[in-house]
Amino acid sequence: MSVQLSGESVKLSRSVVSRFQQMIWQYYETHGRHDLPWRLTDDPYHILVSEVMLQQTQVSRVLTKYPEFLDVFPDIQTLASASLKDILGVWQSMGYNRRAKFLQQAAQKIVSEYDGEIPSDPAQLITLPGIGKHTAGSISAFAFNNPAVFIETNIRRTYIHHFFQGISDVSDTQLYPFIEATLPKDDARNWYNALMDYGTFLAQTIANPNHKSKHYKKQSPFETSLRKVRGEILKAVSNAEGKISKKELETLPFEGDRIRQALGALVKEGFLIKERAQYRIA
Ligand code: ADE
Repeated sequence: MSVQLSGESVKLSRSVVSRFQQMIWQYYETHGRHDLPWRLTDDPYHILVSEVMLQQTQVSRVLTKYPEFLDVFPDIQTLASASLKDILGVWQSMGYNRRAKFLQQAAQKIVSEYDGEIPSDPAQLITLPGIGKHTAGSISAFAFNNPAVFIETNIRRTYIHHFFQGISDVSDTQLYPFIEATLPKDDARNWYNALMDYGTFLAQTIANPNHKSKHYKKQSPFETSLRKVRGEILKAVSNAEGKISKKELETLPFEGDRIRQALGALVKEGFLIKERAQYRIA
């Protein structure tokens, strides 16, 4: 088959495709993480929850949070009608709390517009809050075994390492044709599990080839710490019964400016409500 690479046409022969597939399958057979709990299910709600959690949180942390979350919110209706305070209570410590809020909004939309059935088509999944192109593809593949083409960090690493040696600034657009050409169309679920495990292995063994990706972005210390401040504020407000004063929040161990900046953002994004100088969970 023929794919476009920087304007050039590249032949990907059957034997290249089949050797690459064999290597990935072989790795998966011997070293795959076959017992990850979201791999033991094809329940679309469970997959939705795990994929949103895995977007920005490490597998080891999701391993403890995923069962806890499903214990408290066992089905999409329960999640849709839960209070944001309860959801954030369970989400605590995973960071990027916006995901929790989006996840609930997605659940509400699925209940009201899809009769509680999670759609299988990436084009519909992408219309849900917090679900981008890649997560739409991953949910479609993992829950419905659809041969959707998508990229996440381990997949990106794998394709750059094998097909773009020595090339920098590789864009996802350049990777898609390779992902599509090598995807076994009838076994997408297993294939993507295998690819992700292989990519995780590569990360441990070689200097990260994702640095060559156009989409690679190292998180700045500033972002990291603002995220931390936001998380600690939400924790303090959740732990306080009802309301907490601005004065009290300013005793958190961060710069005052940082706390005020995070508070402003949390109010603007609808996580917190400010009444006079008091804050509560929205
Ligand atoms: N990252 C995103 N989705 C994942 C999955 N299903 N398994 C492991 N890591 C992932």
